[in-house]
Amino acid sequence: MAEDRRVVVWFDGRLREHTEPLVRADDHGLTVGDGVFEACELLDGRPFALTRHLDRLERSATGLGLPLPDRDEVRRAVETVAGAWGEGLGRVRILWSAGPGPLGSERAWGPGTLLVAASAVSPPRPVRVAVVPWVRNERSAIAGLKTTSYAENVRALAHAREQGADEAVFGNTRGELCEGTGTNVFVEADGMLLTPPLESGCLAGVTRALVMEWASEAGIDVREQTLPLGALKDARHAALTSSTRGVVPIVGVDGRELAPGPLSEAVAEIYTRRHLETPDP
Ligand SMILES: Cc1ncc(COP(=O)(O)O)c(C=O)c1O
Repeated sequence: MAEDRRVVVWFDGRLREHTEPLVRADDHGLTVGDGVFEACELLDGRPFALTRHLDRLERSATGLGLPLPDRDEVRRAVETVAGAWGEGLGRVRILWSAGPGPLGSERAWGPGTLLVAASAVSPPRPVRVAVVPWVRNERSAIAGLKTTSYAENVRALAHAREQGADEAVFGNTRGELCEGTGTNVFVEADGMLLTPPLESGCLAGVTRALVMEWASEAGIDVREQTLPLGALKDARHAALTSSTRGVVPIVGVDGRELAPGPLSEAVAEIYTRRHLETPDP
């Protein structure tokens, strides 16, 4: 099947051509990354777990000191884009930036810019990861916020690709396991599924939270635990989670091969089933 290169865009109340210039040159999201975003999976024209994503968008905006977007307007925009997207696996991305501002780090003038867009995603598959030589700063002012300042992730992912991997994994400044560029990490150990706590500096992933809830309900021992980076480097089994991938096994760490683990496989099955049953858990 031909690659789906569609981009559906909503801006200022209506759908637009994705080639249309929409955002001002002095938008603070563009000039200094002063903005926040969300990405939800689109399942048959419906966004998955939208309420949790909107909650996190608001937490991120508050953390950056931005005003909140109008929640009803965001919902309407997402519904419009999701409806126009239709069938087929996709992602809807909600961008809320500080809006027009100075060409420097002083506060933006606003009002904020809201832009919602959808594009295709590839079907999830097992991943190879590379641990990158840079760290997440768990004490950063923007730790745990989903801001548009993602250049570190872009750099790290390019580095991972150069190593033949599909995702980059960061430790934090204390040498603990943290997260991937767009994923949370789970490691299997002693019959348990372990994931770094939020104090590691990782994002509070929506998929991570659902995996913990649904796995516990199914009787799987899943815990937040501070882990050294070595826990992933030496793991027998591990997995990644994200909105666009769900739960996928890690099959390589820095060139060392891993087999998908029994707990990761069980949790992937539970997640796939339950997220089809419950569109907005
Ligand atoms: C840095 C980072 N960590 C983790 C995740 C996974 O979060 P979620 O499950 O909400 O998609 C993402 C999502 O894109 C991310 O950007």
